[in-house]
Amino acid sequence: MNINGISYRAIWPEQDGSSVNIIDQTRLPHDFSVIQLTDLSSAAQAISTMQVRGAPLIGATAAFGVALAMQENASDFGLKAACDVLLATRPTAVNLRWALERMQSVLSAASDIDRVKIAWQEAKLIADEDVEINRSIGVNGLPIIRALWEKKRNPVNILTHCNAGWLATVDWGTALAPIYAAHDAGIPVHVWVDETRPRNQGASLTAWELQQHGVQHTLIVDNVGGHLMQHGQVDMVIVGTDRTTAQGDVCNKIGTYLKALAANDNNVPFYVALPAPTIDWRIQNGVTEIPIEQRDGAEVSHISGLDATGKVVVVNIAPVDCQVANYAFDVTPARLVTGLITERGVCAASKDGLLGLYPEQMA
Ligand code: MRU
Repeated sequence: MNINGISYRAIWPEQDGSSVNIIDQTRLPHDFSVIQLTDLSSAAQAISTMQVRGAPLIGATAAFGVALAMQENASDFGLKAACDVLLATRPTAVNLRWALERMQSVLSAASDIDRVKIAWQEAKLIADEDVEINRSIGVNGLPIIRALWEKKRNPVNILTHCNAGWLATVDWGTALAPIYAAHDAGIPVHVWVDETRPRNQGASLTAWELQQHGVQHTLIVDNVGGHLMQHGQVDMVIVGTDRTTAQGDVCNKIGTYLKALAANDNNVPFYVALPAPTIDWRIQNGVTEIPIEQRDGAEVSHISGLDATGKVVVVNIAPVDCQVANYAFDVTPARLVTGLITERGVCAASKDGLLGLYPEQMA
């Protein structure tokens, strides 16, 4: 994506192939800061502290993390240890496991001497593939938005939750890819941006991204969506996902399920945009089988922002020592999902729908 005339991806390797650059997403929207990951531990830390986040970007960062680890120790032991460290960083987004299994399978077949070179090649391939996948998700989602525009001839109002834009992937995004495609095709769109407590990915990242791209948007608190839907102010919902099961249950940022319920009650189409590596073909029931990350309670009891001098301040908004629960994701059952927008086309959120697009996954 273009920021101040410079084209960026959310992650990219240094020219000399010794380190990886990321945008520190914990500092946005106040500060656009690029940092270098130079070893396994900095890559693992970037994922667990959410300097990088979003399922596809977590997967790509893990792949580069393996490449960095191979520079330190390219033995079988080094490979396994690196994958174990990276896999433990975050539990919900299945792209992490997918990327590590792919790296492990390619590298296990190579000798120790070749592993550094092959690891960098494979990680770059994963990143390049992600960009093309997301571009295709945009192309496949565009007709849905175009149809709404042709029907109403007024700006299409789309609600999204969390950040599933280019910052959550290597480029383009998943949920935001069709929105960027529609905007670039001259279709007037307006996005309702859920702030997405507690980490505020909507306020800090989605609103920033849309602003950079010139897409009209309005930031709202998380509980507004139902009210807007009751008053005909939402034409469709598009969200991303961290793990979608073989039967089409969708795990995404906490609060997504409540948006799906409200959409269902108000006949608002609810779409989920996802790349193939986000599908977990090994499980069916999302509610019982997907591990839901629980994070530090301080993310809920405290909020951060800038003071008048531009300094980041963190303030407590709850009683000291208040008991806090911080569930990071929830599961929306397939029956509440209008359709899945993938790089191969749009399908029903069901086993048959997914297998129709990915027949190679048939047992
Ligand atoms: O906790 P995060 O910020 O990693 O959660 C991100 C999301 O929930 C996104 O919606 C999801 O990863 C899809 S990103 C294309």
